[in-house]
Amino acid sequence: MLRIVVCVSGGGTNLQAILDGIDAGKVTNTEVIAVISNNAGAKALQRAEEKGIPGICISPKNYENREAFNRGFTDELCRRKPDLVVLAGFLVKIPDQAVAAFANRIVNIHPSLIPSFCGVGYYGLKVHEKVLERGVKVTGATVHFVNEGMDEGPIIAQKAVAVEDGDTPEILQKRVMEQAEWILLPRAIDDIANGRIGLVEGKVRRLQGNVTGLI
Ligand code: GRF
Repeated sequence: MLRIVVCVSGGGTNLQAILDGIDAGKVTNTEVIAVISNNAGAKALQRAEEKGIPGICISPKNYENREAFNRGFTDELCRRKPDLVVLAGFLVKIPDQAVAAFANRIVNIHPSLIPSFCGVGYYGLKVHEKVLERGVKVTGATVHFVNEGMDEGPIIAQKAVAVEDGDTPEILQKRVMEQAEWILLPRAIDDIANGRIGLVEGKVRRLQGNVTGLI
């Protein structure tokens, strides 16, 4: 059983997609053992509570400096001993010590086709604003492993979504969620939980047969 901790800052619709996927039997071999948010009011924490999943708020605001927060966040993760950490709309930079402690065991969902529209300053609605500003015709979402860089880790899965005339950032964000994010993230977790993907020379590859424990 893949025990996952999901980190979320806001609405938690990606968290919900994971929970629904587990309930529907589309995500197998997976258990959400905790939800962490930096925002005590996050709807995601309510979603966790409804499911009887422990919800924890760890905010940089409650620590005297960033270093103390980084230690607190990493310690909390280590205490929970997850097999995988899922960043599902988590707007806080993951401390380097957490990335080191969970090397190749943290995944993130980003609402664009990396390496476009990603990196510092590209988060939430801002990504979709920049997409519309540039006038690209195709955008999408990416699930990737997290390394020390910003949106730079090995890519697990991507899905393209059309940009349409008249789109606002909000409309485009909704389409990217519906057509890409809510499908890609649960599927990537299911692939990891069932040993279908692994890292080969720094790239994510589909494995032949089911081999667990390769990430
Ligand atoms: C998603 O678009 C995610 O890709 C982004 O933030 C949004 C979070 O939405 N980084 P939700 O909290 O899952 O509803």
